[in-house]
Amino acid sequence: MTKEQWAAVDQYFTGLFSPSDPALDEALRAAAAAGLPAISVSPSQGQLLAILAKSIQARSVLEIGTLGGYSAIWLARALPAGGTLLTLEANPAHAEVARTSIARAGLASKVEVRVGRALDALPGLVTDRRAPFDLVFIDADKANYAAYLVWALKLTHRGSLIIADNIVRNGTVVDASSNDVNVQGVRRFNAALAADARVTATGIQTVGVKGYDGLAIALVVGDQVA
Ligand code: SAH
Ligand code: DHB
Ligand code: MG
Repeated sequence: MTKEQWAAVDQYFTGLFSPSDPALDEALRAAAAAGLPAISVSPSQGQLLAILAKSIQARSVLEIGTLGGYSAIWLARALPAGGTLLTLEANPAHAEVARTSIARAGLASKVEVRVGRALDALPGLVTDRRAPFDLVFIDADKANYAAYLVWALKLTHRGSLIIADNIVRNGTVVDASSNDVNVQGVRRFNAALAADARVTATGIQTVGVKGYDGLAIALVVGDQVA
């Protein structure tokens, strides 16, 4: 198997299940034009996020790591009338691109893009009217993933989903002696998720247009400790 084959099959699935859409296409085009890295979730992954959000009838979603708003558009579209998405982004230029694309997608009333480092914003969300969140999508700096999990568990309820992107990183995640802070961050996250009795969790490897990576998917099954 080659990555060209993975990509071709992913494109075939995208054509079938997640066909071209002006708002999503424009969000990717605007991100590229502004010089943002091409690291948004893929169309198939965006559709998976939307399916998961709809499966639990999510009304309130927290995203950590906005980039150009591509995954935010998928998640916000999955929300019912009155549903809200709060997305945290450290880079003001990314946030600006995202706000424009989210507004163009007709989702400005559902989505708030908040600028700042996520670890600075998360403590204040405990008392936010949107908390507890039905779904948390973790997709920012990998070194802080374990810390994001601690907050995700404080900010969710029994029945919520916690999803994290990029937990495979081209297979490097299995290297316990890696010097890569991203690999070590993801490994700490995976270990903490596996050890936590409040969640039932799994790791799913993915191949496709973004190469070889994976998602952690965790269902909150236990009560949260204050
Ligand atoms: N979820 C997006 C991709 C996010 S890429 C999508 O799929 O469309 C990761 C983003 O996290 C980048 O925009 C980066 O600027 C942001 N980021 C990195 N460190 C961060 C931090 N400490 N707090 C908040 N955002 C951060
Ligand atoms: C990177 C970050 C991501 O969120 C992603 O999906 C792919 C790559 C990165 O920082 O390299
Ligand atoms: Mg990612």
